[in-house]
Amino acid sequence: MNVPAPEDDDRNWQDWAAQWSIRSDTTYLNHGSFGPPSLAVRHARRDWLDRLDQQPMDVLVRQREDALRASLARLAGFVRTAADNLVLVENATFAMNTVASSFSFAPGDEVLLTDHEYGAVRRIWDRAGRRAGATVRTAELPFPPEDPQRVVDAITSAITDRTKLVVCSHVTSPTALHLPASDICRACRQREIAVCIDGPHAVGQLPLELDRLDCDFYTASCHKWLSGPLGSGFLYVHPRRQAAIEPLNLSWGRLEPDAPVSWQDEFLWTGTRDNAALAALPPAIDLVDSIGVEALSGRGHFLASYGAELIDQWSGYPPLADHRRWYGMMVCAELPPGEPLPLRNALWQRYRIEVPIIQFAGRRFVRISCHLYNTRRHVEYLSQALRELVG
Ligand SMILES: Cc1ncc(COP(=O)(O)O)c(C=O)c1O
Repeated sequence: MNVPAPEDDDRNWQDWAAQWSIRSDTTYLNHGSFGPPSLAVRHARRDWLDRLDQQPMDVLVRQREDALRASLARLAGFVRTAADNLVLVENATFAMNTVASSFSFAPGDEVLLTDHEYGAVRRIWDRAGRRAGATVRTAELPFPPEDPQRVVDAITSAITDRTKLVVCSHVTSPTALHLPASDICRACRQREIAVCIDGPHAVGQLPLELDRLDCDFYTASCHKWLSGPLGSGFLYVHPRRQAAIEPLNLSWGRLEPDAPVSWQDEFLWTGTRDNAALAALPPAIDLVDSIGVEALSGRGHFLASYGAELIDQWSGYPPLADHRRWYGMMVCAELPPGEPLPLRNALWQRYRIEVPIIQFAGRRFVRISCHLYNTRRHVEYLSQALRELVG
């Protein structure tokens, strides 16, 4: 399929948009929370489930490991690391819990998060800290961020001689910012502190090169920007950390013919499940590869940024950050203060628009996500609806 320029007429993007089928009553601008899978992914997942339901023994015992290894190899090529460094899991949450339950803290040690981390990630580390007697600390990032070096400085200046691990998003959830992950990893390595990058919003949206990033752990979901099946994700573990990683659910590790021999094998069988999402991952990667991450990201960014600019025009708020430098396919725009939930509900009930309204640092934002099935009309409709509700 031909790849148009990001700002080309929406009609030129129709062939790409047709790879998805979104419910016709809905204007879907929340790919960042739950990305609908493409038709090819839905087909592959259904096919796997049909075959599984017709002959579970054959699929689970004889076909499953090969299928999962094929998905893993495909994903490893896509995120540029060796397949030996990855395990497939259900989502970033599962991956983050795995790191939190395996990481060894002594009482008094510290783990450092930023104030832009996803709420559930904070809960995971609060519990891990409580259990180990470790302290969870927070680095406040400059907002608006302005200069990437100031973001790195905010993190390094919150590091103490007790800090053992830094947990930091690649792309933040409440504010959609692309953080300078590579600089953050380098700064932590210089201080011999482990880094876990929380990356579910980066996969598919940014060209990932995990070996070059050289973090200790990378946690991700593939059901966001990669448009993989809901319930697909991965955990990357650097070779220097692999011996200490254990699955949350202990089971056989792998079935016949062998007992687990590597750290990865322990994740192959964690109890009986259908594995459809993980087996149906390759068509998602095929689609993103066929357009290219930069073209995909460029189109999503063009639409989301256009939507935010329309909102800024009537709201009078300045852009929250320089769009080109800090945002990709998700862009935030500020709204007049107020409760987020009633506004989100009104957008759905009165306009059938799905979009998150976010409260952060006492301010209210709309976070616009655009993928290949979105058009200018979707973000124009959002801007008009918001103007009627709060303008
Ligand atoms: C930054 C970040 N981390 C982690 C998660 C958790 O992802 P999942 O629910 O797919 O496990 C999310 C979900 O939106 C997120 O935005």
